[in-house]
Amino acid sequence: MAWGRESAACARLPAGSPIRVLRGSNVRDRGRGEGAGWLSSAAMPPLAIGLVYDLQGSYPCEPGDPPDMDAEYEPDATLALLERAIERLGHRPVRVGNPHALLGRAGKGELPSLDAALNLAEGFGGRNREAWAPVLLEMAGVPTLGSDALTLSASLDKVWARTLAEAAGLPTPAQRSVASGAEARAMELPAPFPLFVKPRWEGTSKGIRSTSRVADREALVLEVERITRDYDQPALVEAFVGGPEYTVTLVGTPARALPVLQRALEDTTGIGLHALEREVPPGAEGWSHRLPGALSPALEDGLAELALRAHAAFDCLDFSRSDFRLDDAGEARFLEINPLPTFAANGSFGILAELEGRSADALLADVIAGALERLGLG
Ligand SMILES: Nc1ncnc2c1ncn2[C@@H]1O[C@H](COP(=O)(O)OP(=O)(O)OP(=O)(O)O)[C@@H](O)[C@H]1O
Ligand SMILES: [Mg+2]
Repeated sequence: MAWGRESAACARLPAGSPIRVLRGSNVRDRGRGEGAGWLSSAAMPPLAIGLVYDLQGSYPCEPGDPPDMDAEYEPDATLALLERAIERLGHRPVRVGNPHALLGRAGKGELPSLDAALNLAEGFGGRNREAWAPVLLEMAGVPTLGSDALTLSASLDKVWARTLAEAAGLPTPAQRSVASGAEARAMELPAPFPLFVKPRWEGTSKGIRSTSRVADREALVLEVERITRDYDQPALVEAFVGGPEYTVTLVGTPARALPVLQRALEDTTGIGLHALEREVPPGAEGWSHRLPGALSPALEDGLAELALRAHAAFDCLDFSRSDFRLDDAGEARFLEINPLPTFAANGSFGILAELEGRSADALLADVIAGALERLGLG
């Protein structure tokens, strides 16, 4: 989970685009303009805002790791984008490094003086990896933008996430966690085939392939064996929710929904196209996709309402992105919440900024300003 990022496949908006959006943006309805001036250095001294991050190329890969192990790590361009957003507000970005650098510097008393911090580090390994930096920052007494460690861990583990979501009244697909292929061979199925098999605590569609939708027991066992072996964690077996897919980004306090984005589905499997972007397509033509259904105002309002309920149930702060699909009856099913969504220019924030006709750093400046305000620093 974690947070998920939108794929490059979703980043383009011309005709034939694999995303769909209904309404105009409400980001600027606070009259704060381009995000550049409403917290100006004239009004208050610049804040030193630390950035904690995992950059692409820095994943501690081991022999036998699957090729998508570092899929959640950000390119330097994302960091540069956030730096521009912070500078727009008249503040000073400070590159702290990854969570291990934060640990080392804090441990030696060498952490630079920070007024606040923004974490985008994913960590690696277990289901608390996204919480590493928020815990260290909390211990170091640095006010942190975004959700806290508990929220990040509880949402990354999709079994815990489903329990919390169900308790909040969000419809979810039936699900079962499985530890081995042998267990999958004997298990009682959570729902009739087709089923969907994915890692229990990953994000950015790690581990998901066109074979993740399984139609019989043999395929189920093979997929569970692949996930448990390659990703060193239980596999989740879920009812396959085959209808249109939507993602809802929330920002601010109180949280409000930005326009709902519809994600394209790969034609043959019905899996989100973004989830297959790292897989080589079978033919020379590439993946073909569809955007089924219509995103009516009533559906968009309903999805926004569900996303707000999820955001509240997980105690999310400042921003989150929730993913939904419609089932055969047209009911929205909660797939997951990402309290640590990507800020990359080709992710949801970049797409939403493009829809508003402004730059991603202007939109992110507004989001950061809102978080600073929540922290009493705005
Ligand atoms: N139960 C399901 N039924 C149908 N499709 C599913 C199901 N679970 C996941 N998918 C497909 O797989 C994609 C990725 O799944 P999910 O969002 O759970 O994982 P993730 O790694 O956290 O994703 P990301 O971070 O890319 O959003 C979804 O966007 C959807 O297309
Ligand atoms: Mg997702």
